[in-house]
Amino acid sequence: MVNARRTAILISGRGSNMTSLIAAARAPAYPASIALVIANRPDAAGLARAEAEGIPTKLIDHRRFGSREAFDAELDNTLKKAGIELVACAGFMRVMTRDLVEAWRDRMINIHPSLLPSYKGLHTHERALADGVRIHGCTVHFVRHDVDAGPVIAQAAVPVIPGDTPETLAARVLEAEHRIYPLALSLVASGAVTVSGETLIWKAPYAAQTPLLVPSP
Ligand code: GRF
Repeated sequence: MVNARRTAILISGRGSNMTSLIAAARAPAYPASIALVIANRPDAAGLARAEAEGIPTKLIDHRRFGSREAFDAELDNTLKKAGIELVACAGFMRVMTRDLVEAWRDRMINIHPSLLPSYKGLHTHERALADGVRIHGCTVHFVRHDVDAGPVIAQAAVPVIPGDTPETLAARVLEAEHRIYPLALSLVASGAVTVSGETLIWKAPYAAQTPLLVPSP
């Protein structure tokens, strides 16, 4: 698509969310194009997946840099040189400096495997199971300097089912991630949502939906 926003995806691992974004962006009317995939680890399996999809890739190995600032500066330069407009973090396991976050403020989004603000950080599925919640899920949000914080763009809720293990629950959440992330990126890239301060602004209101009841009656 001619006006598709040039988007970079940042990964550290297998890249299944990256793959779902690449697939969505192949649709002619999708408002973002995936112009670059950057990994901070040479063993990130997603790199080979992106290459197989014909997407330009770049490895910026964080171990080659003496400081977080130096790594982030290289990342920022790479994004700028490639003419990137939006950044989608997809399993990118690096805490970013305030400078980098501010440079991409309201142009960088992330997916997190919980219904934020619950379960920030790691091991979200284990913690949700330990707490006995009946509904869990995932969140796409704008990136702020505080980890797993920032205006929420979209969330998907999934039921927790008796007998779930962290693995079965993670698999159910991941399926939802693969649906919600392309939706959220398209909302941002098309301008359907914008941010004012810490508040998300919707261009058009969306239709009411039925509640998810767990267990369902
Ligand atoms: C996903 O669960 C994502 O929510 C989290 O890290 C995981 C990345 O998985 N931030 P993948 O690399 O996209 O398969």
